[in-house]
Amino acid sequence: MADEREPLTVPRFTKLKNSGRKIIMLTAYDYPSAAIVDRAGVDGILVGDSLGMVVQGRSNTLPVTLDHVIYHAEMVARSVRHALVVVDLPFLTFQLGASKAIESAGRILKETAAQAVKLEGGSEQAKLIAALVDAGIPVMAHLGLRPQSVRVRGGYRVERDRDRLLADADAVQEAGAFAVVLECIPAAIAVEITQRLDIPTIGIGAGADTDGQILVFHDLLGYSPDERLPKHSRKYADLRSVISDAVQRYAEDVQTGRFPGPENAFS
Ligand code: KIV
Repeated sequence: MADEREPLTVPRFTKLKNSGRKIIMLTAYDYPSAAIVDRAGVDGILVGDSLGMVVQGRSNTLPVTLDHVIYHAEMVARSVRHALVVVDLPFLTFQLGASKAIESAGRILKETAAQAVKLEGGSEQAKLIAALVDAGIPVMAHLGLRPQSVRVRGGYRVERDRDRLLADADAVQEAGAFAVVLECIPAAIAVEITQRLDIPTIGIGAGADTDGQILVFHDLLGYSPDERLPKHSRKYADLRSVISDAVQRYAEDVQTGRFPGPENAFS
């Protein structure tokens, strides 16, 4: 678990766009998982409001609060030595205007060791992004499928409006965002945006040609009570089976007297 790499700052993260290699991001929500992900060599860890679904078991991200993300971000950022830690601004913690957004994002930076926030939104949030950056708060933007807009869209849908996506990408860069997540958009539009912007594009369901990729920790590891996997994801392990198998073997050992053994007992 030794990791001699320097901590990644926001400017160094942005420079990875022209480094000739892909930027690797993953979500994480607690101390041990973030430590393992960090030491495994990712560039960025997102404490996503996806925690509402994969950790809290809710059907969408809307109920996630600022206190929830701060609780998780504090643990994550305390365990990380190298990766840039970015924290999602949950639903209604920034949409009410610049002062509310600065207050919310400011709490994240003051109460955790995270370096930046992420917010869902394009042109309509450009002024707000600029206000946050002016206040000293680095912002990662998030375009395409925006889970916090699930009620407006009536579900989770691929965003195919090319003109809107290009305008949004220009607007968030112009406003000072240091990177942008592109979620579930056609690969060809993601290429166009990636070539057009100076800041890195981090794709999820946006094809292979963005500057980097991000996945949700639980999807990558098969760490979920059900087997469904989003189309844009890939399962690299099956923790559901690993955990279930371990628990069953433990129960069997207790029932048959094989656990605890003499080595586990005190005299
Ligand atoms: O909340 C989250 O995990 C995200 C990623 C899927 C980009 O926004």
